[in-house]
Amino acid sequence: MTESTHKPAPSKVLDRVLVLEMVRVTEAAAIGASKLIGRGDEKAADHAAVEAMRAAFNELWMDGTVVIGEGERDEAPMLYIGEKVGAAPGTGPKIDIALDPLEGTTITAKAGPNALAVLAVAEEGGLLNAPDVYMDKLAVGPGYPDGIIDLDKSVTDNVKAVAAAKGVEPGDIIVCVLDRPRHADLIAELRGLGCGIMLIPDGDVAGVIAVTNEDTGVDMYMGSGGAPEGVLAAAALRCVGGQFKGRLLFRNDDERARARKWGIEDLNKQYDLRELAKGDCIFAATGVTDGSLLDGVKVHKNGMLSTESVVMRASSGTVRWVKGEHRKPR
Ligand code: FBP
Repeated sequence: MTESTHKPAPSKVLDRVLVLEMVRVTEAAAIGASKLIGRGDEKAADHAAVEAMRAAFNELWMDGTVVIGEGERDEAPMLYIGEKVGAAPGTGPKIDIALDPLEGTTITAKAGPNALAVLAVAEEGGLLNAPDVYMDKLAVGPGYPDGIIDLDKSVTDNVKAVAAAKGVEPGDIIVCVLDRPRHADLIAELRGLGCGIMLIPDGDVAGVIAVTNEDTGVDMYMGSGGAPEGVLAAAALRCVGGQFKGRLLFRNDDERARARKWGIEDLNKQYDLRELAKGDCIFAATGVTDGSLLDGVKVHKNGMLSTESVVMRASSGTVRWVKGEHRKPR
């Protein structure tokens, strides 16, 4: 039996071997996209990542279902919501998958920082089927009292609570925010408190995860971004600690109807990370371009490619950093 067709013990849906296999999947997507870094073509970069990720999934012993993917079936030819992936349909472990083969298509096209190939897997029903709408997001790293952040409180109150728990002034708090015109009021309120603001051009999965890494200096994440990216970031925080709150934001009735279609009844609900990613889950990411979380794909003189990935599991809290050297083209 080869490693890729390893059959897990029936009692463990998210088998330990599967944890490391997930790195192969994100590595494949990152390498696929890497050829298009800085080439100005977002669609081609995304397509290359999607194709490579799908092929890698289909080598794994599992009965996977994409619950967060590239879009609905009629708008995405591959890795669409509901698509079955894996080499063992009907017999392998039933796994739900949230994926973003290229988180940061614009970043990749412009060779900017923090583009990732990313996925989260959970037991069947473990991930919120988030529609492709915006989500209001609020996150802090590990070590704070439960419930310290709350989307129903003002920006100022959240910052003051975190500052008090950290034993610093509100002006000492560093907040990561997506650089968007819609965040003008949020940024003005943070500036009024004297906070440091790390404005990122794109890539809020890495932005949220930055709160868990002291080296980034980021204390909090605030602002709206994609809801699917919110579920992915929540899965990562489930594994490494930290708190995350998310609330879906709807711009029109069509978006509300899409949410209801995926079974969401309370459209105003504030989700905690355990409601976004339940039970055991695995989060994996490989850097496409260099960033705060991971180095990007590098092409060496001899043609070898190197990758850096991280894979984490909620039930064990284990975080593995994986450096890959790839000598043969996939
Ligand atoms: P893409 O990879 O789909 O381009 O997403 C990048 C991203 O910056 C996400 O990280 C973020 O959640 C979302 O776009 C924000 O959306 P918008 O660009 O509409 O503000």
